[in-house]
Amino acid sequence: MPVTISSMDGLIIYFTDMTQEELFKKLIAHSKEYGFIFPSSEIYDGLSAVYDYGQMGVELKNNIKRYWWDAMVKLNENIVGIDSAIFMHSRIWEASGHVGAFNDPLIDNKDSKKRYRADVLIEEWLAKQDEKIEKEIAKAKKRFGDSFDEAMFIETNPRIKDIRHKKETVTSRMVQSLNDGDLEEVRNIILDCEIACPISGTRNWTEVRQFNLMFETKIGSVAEGANTIYLRPETAQGIFVNFLNVQKTGRMKIPFGIAQIGKAFRNEIVARQFIFRMREFEQMEMQFFVRPGEEMKWYEYWKKFRMSWHKALGFGDENYRFHDHDKLAHYANAAADVEYKFPFGFKEVEGIHSRTDFDLGNHQKFSGRKIQYYDPETGESYVPYVVETSIGVDRMVLQVLSASYAEEKITKEDGSTDERVVMKFPAAIAPIKAAVLPLVKKDGLPELARKIIDDLKYDHVCQYDEKDSIGKRYRRQDAIGTPFCITVDHQSLEDGMVTVRHRDTMAQERIPVADLPKMIADQVGFRPLFEKIEK
Ligand code: GAP
Repeated sequence: MPVTISSMDGLIIYFTDMTQEELFKKLIAHSKEYGFIFPSSEIYDGLSAVYDYGQMGVELKNNIKRYWWDAMVKLNENIVGIDSAIFMHSRIWEASGHVGAFNDPLIDNKDSKKRYRADVLIEEWLAKQDEKIEKEIAKAKKRFGDSFDEAMFIETNPRIKDIRHKKETVTSRMVQSLNDGDLEEVRNIILDCEIACPISGTRNWTEVRQFNLMFETKIGSVAEGANTIYLRPETAQGIFVNFLNVQKTGRMKIPFGIAQIGKAFRNEIVARQFIFRMREFEQMEMQFFVRPGEEMKWYEYWKKFRMSWHKALGFGDENYRFHDHDKLAHYANAAADVEYKFPFGFKEVEGIHSRTDFDLGNHQKFSGRKIQYYDPETGESYVPYVVETSIGVDRMVLQVLSASYAEEKITKEDGSTDERVVMKFPAAIAPIKAAVLPLVKKDGLPELARKIIDDLKYDHVCQYDEKDSIGKRYRRQDAIGTPFCITVDHQSLEDGMVTVRHRDTMAQERIPVADLPKMIADQVGFRPLFEKIEK
């Protein structure tokens, strides 16, 4: 993070400089210290890749879910929501292809005994090649100054040409071998690229094996003859199997969508990076049912809509990009990820997939029920095609935490200095909207503060805090990202005015108590975000 300086109201704020790695470590510690995210089962030494949301985390997560649900269901009259069960008939997962094909190719290093996803090892090697190219460009830029022609340099520099050629060859070998399920070739690529285990540093690799990611459990008692069922690895199938129910009872006309938020489970072998890759996580998915042949038009539509939903949060357009899939999932004919620049690099937050009629067609085949739509406009019956948007709630929480965390050194007008950690959440998704702080614990100030909270709490999650100095209380609210601190002082009892302190600028203003509900409501609503979404 670069050092930047800004000045307002006589304060100078220096954003402290730190590496992305330091930022990520601090973020994890901060998330625990302030009640956002705890490791699961901590008093029993934890459970790998499973996390619990604390008192702040759950508010943040609920607000993110509300932002998604309202943008999808409330703003689109042809999208409705459902909430399907996690347990489903096991044949559903045969029809969806997950029993046969929801696998990760795994490889072990014989010296460190560490297990890796073979495709991820190759992808990381490819990313390193990009870094090498970037470095060459940066060096040349320095050497040639203003006369540097980057496009020409990339086209003609022999070293860059060589790296790009190697990258293209490895990418096409990887895509081909993963699509063909040729695990020996996947291993050969790892050997040919001379990829070493980050722990042992050796290239002593086992064979590559497929590993199915679904968790199994049993339903019914043993006496009845228990059956294997699966914890769902995606929420989407609950939507597909309810397609006819919703279409008929809601008299839905194509194109229309069904949205759902719910838990999903994957037995991730390589679980890393905090809540980025978890074994139990939450998804927000929407299946949009369209006429066959119109899927690419809707695929582009939803790509644009979903990207602008992300960008509306104001974390910087340059921190987002699309990544088109090289290897398509077993159900897709086109797919792209929305990637966000996390402290550990650009990574997937959301997928937009054109799933064809694969799922509905297979459920029709496996269940023996006719799953078709009669199109009154064309007079034809068909199995609809599907464009899906699928985003992980937890990855979204991580995106919001990473983008909002800031450390600042403050020089005040009198020359004294201070430091603060502040979560600069967009106000609409901040866990606590306002804190009400009586300056002292006596003289009727707590009573007025309580009266203010009692009014605001019908509309907003608020906190009352009377402990410690006002400065300490401001820092506590900064650390959990509360946009407004409302201070009640002796003057308030006389003139009915309070001091409102704004989190990001630290600017303070006096406003009448009666104006508080409107002032807060105007700034914490979702509407300004929704208005930025491009359709
Ligand atoms: N229905 C399609 C589907 O599930 P996916 O790309 O496998 O597609 C969609 O997952 C989103 O779910 C991802 O973009 C990611 O945000 C989230 N996700 C997937 N696996 C996850 C995991 N192990 N931990 C946290 N989030 C995950």
